[in-house]
Order: sequence, then structure tokens, then C-alpha cells
Amino acid sequence: MVPVLLSLSLSHLSLWAFGLVSVLVFLKLTRLLLRRQMLARAMDRFSGPPTHWLFGHALEIQQTGSLDKVVSWTHEFPYAHQLWVGQFLGFLNIYDPEYAKAVYSRGDPKAPDFYDFFLQWIGKGLLVLQGPKWFQHRKLLAPGFHYDVLKPYVALFAESTRVMLDKWEKKAREQKSFDIYSDVGHMALDSLMKCTFGKGTSGLNDRDNNYYLSVKELTLLMQQRIDSFQYHNDFIYFLTPHGRRFLRACQVAHDHTDQVIRERKAALQDEKERERIQSKRHLDFLDILLGARDEEGIKLSDEDLRAEVDTFMFEGHDTTTSAISWVLYCMSLYPEHQRRCREEIQEILGDRDTLKWDDLAEMTYLTMCIKESFRLYPPVPQVYRQLSQPVNFVDGRSLPEGSLISLHIYALHRNSTVWPDPEVFDPLRFSPENVAGRHSFAFIPFSAGPRNCIGQQFAMAEVKVVTALCLLRFEFAPDPSRLPIKMPQLVLRSKNGIHLHLKPLGPGSEK
Ligand code: HEM
Ligand SMILES: *[C@@H]1O[C@H](CO)[C@@H](O)[C@H](O)[C@H]1NC(C)=O
Repeated sequence: MVPVLLSLSLSHLSLWAFGLVSVLVFLKLTRLLLRRQMLARAMDRFSGPPTHWLFGHALEIQQTGSLDKVVSWTHEFPYAHQLWVGQFLGFLNIYDPEYAKAVYSRGDPKAPDFYDFFLQWIGKGLLVLQGPKWFQHRKLLAPGFHYDVLKPYVALFAESTRVMLDKWEKKAREQKSFDIYSDVGHMALDSLMKCTFGKGTSGLNDRDNNYYLSVKELTLLMQQRIDSFQYHNDFIYFLTPHGRRFLRACQVAHDHTDQVIRERKAALQDEKERERIQSKRHLDFLDILLGARDEEGIKLSDEDLRAEVDTFMFEGHDTTTSAISWVLYCMSLYPEHQRRCREEIQEILGDRDTLKWDDLAEMTYLTMCIKESFRLYPPVPQVYRQLSQPVNFVDGRSLPEGSLISLHIYALHRNSTVWPDPEVFDPLRFSPENVAGRHSFAFIPFSAGPRNCIGQQFAMAEVKVVTALCLLRFEFAPDPSRLPIKMPQLVLRSKNGIHLHLKPLGPGSEK
């Protein structure tokens, strides 16, 4: 008797559960369809490349060479085109300076459809925040990037670079090309930790290295998730092996950032350390975060604190790693420009052997080469927004509130009206005469407007110092058998690494 009753109620229960799930699925589907209709209607004045009935444009986007695929689309569709990831998520992909200005000169929020994928990892830090809280954090952290704070970083960048160059000295002896990307990455993480997080000079340990690897994994998984609509839903994603890998990598990243916060908090217990910090004229990033109080004198919550540390730990090294690696690649491709940069640096230094902050402004040719590299290989190739108000574009078309925007920086930088022969590497595009009169949104590697990159002066200083020191020590040449294959992984990476030949130049090894 009892077993029969039990099985009866069990089958009842599963029937109920089935019913409930069906209703939920139905509701979700209706929501998705309504949203699809809203997004499609908003963009009805814009056309786009043909879509796959299920994948939209996702198949093209997932392929190697997707960045250049989009560039080929821009020739067909001036200003902007529709871009669909699956059937439910449609963006207006823009790549014209005026279009970019219409949206990015305002402070519209990031598109949650993609930026929410960051939440488990970097939480609601500056990159993802919006509204008054974003404004408050941005105002709070801006002084951490004041140039008086940045000045002493030149010596720290140089120190981390020297470690990398010594390593390269050994590798170069084998007279084979090697992939520079991860060495640059370790160097960039090391200098970030020293500058922004006040870490000592001991170089990276195992925990740092695990962090480095976890970021590589996280960015790979995130890009894959962005490009695959099947993975957009949190519930489904975290049931998949990829989703679980993502959570595991988040754990590793958090262990690292928690440790950094713990160590600094412990140091603050020390009277002397507190005095030292209070006597500093300019506080570093972590000092600011830990000392921050709002109007009511309340500290940042632990959650907010960790989100900012996670955000800057990631944004502060992954972007510059990409930047420096591609700059060195460009240098390797163009020996004439490489030689001119080297001579410029040698002239600035004279008989000194260390760089100073004031030297950076003198590196005019190197700066032009760096900018030209950022044009062709933008470290952040694409960013997304959701309109909080309607926008009107130059050609009379418009988009309503709620529409999604993808700004394709990579394609924007190849607009042939602004950049004749866009694929040609020509640093003179950034000579003062040529810059004058150019559209202010024609070149935006750091994005633009109120949500631009808070770290751009930091980044430019680092890229200049590191590249200058690299050029003083080595001659760089490409490996024609292993040319890099561009691949977006939140930042611009190369699928097969960046393999270069290095020839030591230092005293003694000359000619
Ligand atoms: C060459 C190196 C870099 C490039 C090309 C770059 C590029 C960008 C871009 C395009 C954005 C806009 C992102 C978006 O709209 O979603 C951004 C935002 C941001 N970047 Fe950078 N970045 C670089 C280096 C750095 C560094 C070194 C730091 C920190 C030390 C940093 C911290 C940030 C933060 C916190 C934001 C969010 C700012 C906000 O929304 O208020 N970046 N960056
Ligand atoms: C390139 O920029 C010019 C000038 O802003 C614009 O007229 C043109 O439509 C742009 N090209 C594309 C493909 O968007």
C-alpha cells in the first residue's frame, strides 16, 4: 500500500515539475522573442550581411579572421550594419567616426548582455558599473592616475623590463625565433603589481603565475561565450564544462586578489606603515581604495573593494601585454622605423643609462609608431553599449532607447576615407600636421568620452618605457614562417603567439 502511494505522489510531483519547467521555458522564450522584435524593429533602417536562420552572424564571428571579415562588411554597409549573435541578440555594429561620436561622447551604460558575463570574475568594478556609483568610483580613483603618481612608475617599468630582457638575452643565444607574448605578459603583470598594488621587487611567485594563467583562460572562455548564444544564459552556461572551467578560473583569480588585499590590510596595522602612507603626497591605487570614505564616512564594502582590485588587476596588464607585443611585432616588420626609434632613444639618453618621465615626451617618433601600431592592432578591438536614450546619427537615421551598440574599433581604424591605404603601416599619419583636422573619433584605441580608459596615461608611459628599453637591447625581426594570426580574446591576441627573432645589441655584442 505504502509504496503505491509513494510512487503515485512521486509521479504527481514530476508532472508538476514538468509543468512548471514548461511554463518557465515558455515565458523565457516569449521574453526573448519580444526582445528580438524590439531590437530588430529598432534597427529596421539598417541592413546587414545575410544571417543564418539559427546562428545569425555567429558562425562568421567565431571564425579565425573574423575581425577582417567585419572590415569587409564595412565596405558593403557604410557607417553601420546589423550584427546578430544567434536570433535573440542583435547589435548595431558601428565603425564610422561620426557614429562613434554620437554614442560614445555620452556615458551610456555597457551592454549587460555581454558585460554581465564579467560579474563572477571582476564583479561590479569601474569597467562594468554604471550610473551614480560608476561616477563616484571614477572620481575616487582618478587621482591614482595623476601624472605625479605615474612619474615614479618609469623606474618600476624599467626594472620589470630588465628582468624580461635578461631572460631574452639567454633565449636569443639559441638563435631561434621565440614567442614573446607570455614573457611580455609576466613583465606587465609584475610592473602593474609593483606600481598599482605596491608589491615589493621580488618578481612573480607561483600564485601570481597561476593568476596570469587564469586570466588567459578567463578571457578565452569569455570571448567564446560572447560569440556563442547557446552560452548566454547563466543557468545553462554554468552547467556546461566550459562554465565550470570559468568558475574554477575565477576562484584562482580571486585567491590572488584576496591575497593582495589581505597583505595590504595587514601592512596597515603597522603604525610605521600608516605614517608612511599618510606622509605620501600622492596615494597609490590601493591606498585610495582602502582609505576611501563616502559622505557619511563609510568605507567601500569588501565586495566593492575586491571588484575594483579584480578589475584593475585584469585591465591593467592584459591590455598592455597585447599593446607591447604588437608594437614589437610592428617594429620587427619595419626595420627602418625600428632603427629611427632606436636612434631617437639613444639621442634622448645621451650618456645616461636610465629613463626619466620627461624623456617620454621627447620620444616623438616612437610615439607615432606606437599609435600606428594601436591603429592597426588595437589592443581592445570591440566594445559594447546599451542606449539609455535615443540617438540621432549624422545621416538622419536614429536608434531608440534600449538598442544595443557594438563599436568595432578595429574596423573604425581601417576607414579608408580617414586612413588612405589603411593596411599600410605609416607612423607619419600621426605627425602633428596630419593629426590636425582629423576627426577626434577616427582613432580611439582607449575608447572616448566619459567612459574612456582611465589607465591610458599609465598605459602609454608603460608602452613607451618598455619598447624603448627593448629597442636598446635587441634588434627585432619577424619569423616569416610563423606570422601572427589575429584573434580577439577580449584583447587582441595572436592565435599562434608572436614569434620574433632577437639579436642582442648591447656593448660587446655590437656588430
Ligand atoms: C594599451 C593599453 C590599454 C588599452 C588599449 C585600453 C583600452 C580601454 C578601452 C577601449 C576601454 C573602454 C572599455 C569599454 O568601453 O568597455 C577601457 C576602459 C578601462 N580601462 Fe583601459 N586600456 C588600456 C590599459 C589600461 C590600464 C593600464 C588600466 C589600469 C591600470 C586600464 C583600466 C581601465 C578601466 C578601469 C576601464 C573602465 C573605465 C570606466 O568605464 O570608467 N586600462 N580601456
Ligand atoms: C569613413 O569615414 C567617413 C568620414 O566620416 C564616412 O563618410 C564613411 O562612411 C566611413 N566609412 C565607413 C565604411 O563607415
